[in-house]
Amino acid sequence: MAIREILEVPDPRLKQISAPVTQFNDELRDLVADLFETMYDAPGIGLAAVQVGVPLRVLVIDLQPEDPDAEPVACAHDGHHHHHQPTKREPQVFINPEILAPSADLKVYNEGCLSVPEMYAEVERPARIRARWQDLDGKVHEEDMDGLMATCLQHEMDHLEGILFIDHLSRLKRGMVLKKLEKLRRAA
Ligand code: NI
Repeated sequence: MAIREILEVPDPRLKQISAPVTQFNDELRDLVADLFETMYDAPGIGLAAVQVGVPLRVLVIDLQPEDPDAEPVACAHDGHHHHHQPTKREPQVFINPEILAPSADLKVYNEGCLSVPEMYAEVERPARIRARWQDLDGKVHEEDMDGLMATCLQHEMDHLEGILFIDHLSRLKRGMVLKKLEKLRRAA
């Protein structure tokens, strides 16, 4: 296992369309192990393979940060500082995920992304979805999702199409976020 480098805007590799996974082999297992290690290290609650430069339809999610003193997590958090109780990790891997039935009603979350570090903005997405995906053995799963899980999965699935959460913002707002990020990088 290894922590991989997370690509950040404006890296053009984040714009790639990810290809379906066809081989459920050891290489895929190694990739998923690295994705979890990289996500927990960041820390974040979701990471797509393309964010570490591997354009395959693979993503990992864990909505339960283990460290109770951890900083607020990146990716679709709700913008508030929580006092997390110590919780167990709940790693979930989604391979070749699809959204089958997005609800008409929408929900707004203050989203962030490890590829757009320390920036947050409100994004509106379907509040509930039915999702279908494969696990590491290629077995198909289907489940209804709502709340943070629905938002996070949609955010991560956008990455597979080369879309970042800031692409959902107006041009003006996106420009402001990128300018702020640029300023932050210069200060670092
Ligand atoms: Ni993201």
